Amino acid sequence: MQPPRDLRGLWLLPLPWFLLLGEVARAGRPGFSCPAACLCASNILSCSKQQLPNVPHALPSYTAQLDLSHNNLSRLRAEWTPTRLPHLHSLLLSHNHLHFISSEAFSPVPNLRYLDLSSNQLRTLEEALFSELQALEVLLLYNNRIGPVDRSAFEDMAQLQKLYLSQNLISRFPLELVRLPKLTLLDLSANRLKTLPVSDLQKLPAWVKNGLYLHNNPLLCTCELYQLFAHWQRRQLSPVVDFQEDLHCLSAKKPHSVFNLNCSEYKERAWEAHLGDTLTIHCDTKQQGMTKMWVTPSHERVLDEPANGTVRVIEDGSLHFQSVQVEDGGVYTCFAVGEAFNETLSVELKVYNFTLHGHHDTLNTAYTTLVGCILSVVLVLIYLYLTPCRCWCRGVEKPASHQGDSLSSSMLSTTPNHDPMAGGDKEEDFDRRVAFLEPAGPGQDQNGKLKPGNTLPVPEAPGKGQRRMSDPESVSSVFSDTPIVV
Ligand SMILES: *[C@@H]1O[C@H](CO)[C@@H](O)[C@H](O)[C@H]1NC(C)=O
Ligand SMILES: *[C@@H]1O[C@H](CO)[C@@H](O)[C@H](O)[C@H]1NC(C)=O
Ligand SMILES: *[C@@H]1O[C@H](CO)[C@@H](O)[C@H](O)[C@H]1NC(C)=O
Ligand SMILES: *[C@@H]1O[C@H](CO)[C@@H](O)[C@H](O)[C@H]1NC(C)=O
Ligand SMILES: *[C@@H]1O[C@H](CO)[C@@H](O)[C@H](O)[C@H]1NC(C)=O
Repeated sequence: MQPPRDLRGLWLLPLPWFLLLGEVARAGRPGFSCPAACLCASNILSCSKQQLPNVPHALPSYTAQLDLSHNNLSRLRAEWTPTRLPHLHSLLLSHNHLHFISSEAFSPVPNLRYLDLSSNQLRTLEEALFSELQALEVLLLYNNRIGPVDRSAFEDMAQLQKLYLSQNLISRFPLELVRLPKLTLLDLSANRLKTLPVSDLQKLPAWVKNGLYLHNNPLLCTCELYQLFAHWQRRQLSPVVDFQEDLHCLSAKKPHSVFNLNCSEYKERAWEAHLGDTLTIHCDTKQQGMTKMWVTPSHERVLDEPANGTVRVIEDGSLHFQSVQVEDGGVYTCFAVGEAFNETLSVELKVYNFTLHGHHDTLNTAYTTLVGCILSVVLVLIYLYLTPCRCWCRGVEKPASHQGDSLSSSMLSTTPNHDPMAGGDKEEDFDRRVAFLEPAGPGQDQNGKLKPGNTLPVPEAPGKGQRRMSDPESVSSVFSDTPIVV
């Protein structure tokens, strides 16, 4: 090998030899033999069942798969491999005694796709522990002693598809995990979960729920829980189909099968809409990337472009109604074709023969009314204290009745509370203009609806304005911009 002759090479010479290993290897120098404790088959290194207390040193930089399972490793320090292993895609560390992993332990293996840390003695998952593993697809952490899971432990793992956390001591449902973009399997079975964020889970798409394993947890029996799993059962989702026997909950300290609870029977509810609504109905398949086709109640295929109706299929395969009509009601069927299986989903749509403007503006009008009241007070104060004519121009003062008019006819317009990050943002905005003729008094229509001929709705106690959509699961409609106050 020709030694490097440029300045950079000379400058590097006094550095410890291992810093140069990567360079040398790439220059093609032979000389790496298989570490003593390992069996090597080109880029596969198998070093399992050797009772190794440490990771063997001088691992070849071309290693693609490294098996260190069934050893006596107790710590994975930052410098466990002095050389970077850019080609390593599988690292097996199961059945060791690992109780410590340095937060920098994974810096030398940035392209890891499969990491097995199962059957060790890990207790916590620290902040950003796996964040450097941007390419990781499968992470096995089952059978450890993990209790707290830091909310950022798995942050930025954009490629993570399968995460096994069963047989640990987890008591908080890590909702941040189901939001990872590619996660299709999250195993949280046999942990210490007592409660679940049921309403958040209901909103997840079926392809996430289809891989969300929750059996063998000490869940508290509630009818909410029953409704959740009854829905999964109706959809034949794997966590319920495959582990129905293990889906227990605790009531009076006794385990019951979730499906034996005395709760009202689960019913698939129709989607409800009102005349003129814009509405998107997703074809909520158990798998991603299926080809979807919709058929109307009159057995016609829905096309990308609306032929003579108001409905069309948009890019992601959802059904989109621009301005829903009473005639659009009925049962729609989605045929989804996937590589592994086909699915047929039916969705009932009910359209009420009236518009919802009075109703869906309730909360916003409540806000605008409040703002209007405050503004009126401010205007009165300004009028009282800042009008120069007030004290010494009585003679030319306008009649008192006029004063009221000018105050109360202030025109307000609000922009709806819009979260630009929230999904379902494509819907049209409503320009809400409210004319304040008179401050509204109490004792008006209790729903805060606009009465014909009446002036203004009263600010209602927030919380009454609920989404009327019957199935909160994947509906996004015009009302998604209604602020939901809990
Ligand atoms: C494993 O390591 C522990 C200390 O970490 C040591 O006490 C034990 O003897 C080791 N076991 C074997 C089989 O080498
Ligand atoms: C449901 O009701 C039946 C009879 O009404 C009772 O035997 C059973 O124990 C109840 N189940 C639960 C889980 O409470
Ligand atoms: C369009 O309207 C015609 C007649 O009104 C009807 O025969 C046809 O089925 C409709 N097509 C669609 C896609 O709705
Ligand atoms: C799914 O449906 C398509 C067309 O309808 C058919 O060709 C295919 O064999 C079906 N696949 C499965 C797995 O049933
Ligand atoms: C909807 O209501 C209007 C009157 O409010 C009525 O004329 C019309 O026939 C109704 N449409 C349907 C489909 O019921």
